[in-house]
Amino acid sequence: MTTPVPPAAGDAPPGPASPVDPLSRPLAVGGLQLGRRLFMAPMAGITTPAFRRSVRRWGAGLVFTEMISAYGVHYGNRRTLGYFVHGEDEHPLGFQLFGADADVLADAAGRAVAAGADLVDLNMACPVRKVVKTGAGAALLADPHRAAAITAAVVAAVGDAAPGRGVPVTVKIRSGLREGDGLGLGVAPRLVAAGAAAVCIHPRSAAQLYRGRADHSVTFALAAGSPVPVIASGDVDGREAALRLLDGGAAAVMLARGAVGAPWLFAQVLGADEPAAAEKREEVRRFATEVLETLGTRAVGHLRQFWPRFRRRGALDRALALQLMQARDEAGVRSLLGL
Ligand SMILES: Cc1cc2nc3c(=O)[nH]c(=O)nc-3n(C[C@H](O)[C@H](O)[C@H](O)COP(=O)(O)O)c2cc1C
Repeated sequence: MTTPVPPAAGDAPPGPASPVDPLSRPLAVGGLQLGRRLFMAPMAGITTPAFRRSVRRWGAGLVFTEMISAYGVHYGNRRTLGYFVHGEDEHPLGFQLFGADADVLADAAGRAVAAGADLVDLNMACPVRKVVKTGAGAALLADPHRAAAITAAVVAAVGDAAPGRGVPVTVKIRSGLREGDGLGLGVAPRLVAAGAAAVCIHPRSAAQLYRGRADHSVTFALAAGSPVPVIASGDVDGREAALRLLDGGAAAVMLARGAVGAPWLFAQVLGADEPAAAEKREEVRRFATEVLETLGTRAVGHLRQFWPRFRRRGALDRALALQLMQARDEAGVRSLLGL
């Protein structure tokens, strides 16, 4: 069985793409030098350390934690602080924070940098009710004054926590709260004026959640007037979509749902052929092993969301995926995968 020999960030891309491939050109985000322009987006419940290592093996140039509650960090919640745990092989690694209070976010950002964050991203995109009703996530799109004050406070705190390291603060936004309200384009210049080193945009409205298509004409409008890199997220399902976004002015592109159950999509977007089923299966075994080693009693339940996706992406046959869904404990998963 062949094992994938994917690149680490900064190495040459896999497959036939040339060294001048637009996705493999370096990018500076503030003081952070990135080797390529293809990132893994933050995803709650998905982008655990095992997942981040998995997509890094296939070429992700930057990975993010799941969104982390600034309040939880500030008040020392043990479970929240668990999101800070990461391996040395995950860098460059962005920590994404959410919250609504500038002082609390500033404190949490300082702690994130002390814990090893290479970049701090502020979530002003989350549409989930529980988050929005506290004034955090996408709610900040409608409160540009607060959004800018938060950004300025976090930029100052990160500078104090890591003087001279140039750790960038970025902000992830949506196009707005409702389709056509223009809130994303309105708030972005204020975030940049407050010190954001890049803006990441997922151009669906919060009301859309994850339905419909991302409207990247909004991404291009933002990029056209932006003095900082604009990072595009939404519907990147292959190399063509990624190149189209760079062509339109995005500085970098993020994979999200497309890479769940298909971490090798990174290599494909960078120009490699689709890996053989045996290679995919080997990656599944490696990922599952790391999840079992790191998530303890939560591992078997956590893995269940991946089995149908791995099946759809040709890494598992139907019968095995079904058996894995029914596995009740770690021993069951291990025996089915031969671990
Ligand atoms: C299950 C799930 C969890 C997500 N969690 C986060 C998150 O924690 N922080 C964030 O900024 N975006 C989050 N997102 C949004 C993604 O980062 C991304 O912007 C979005 O899915 C659009 O990209 P896609 O169309 O390629 O999936 C999440 C999306 C999904 C589907």
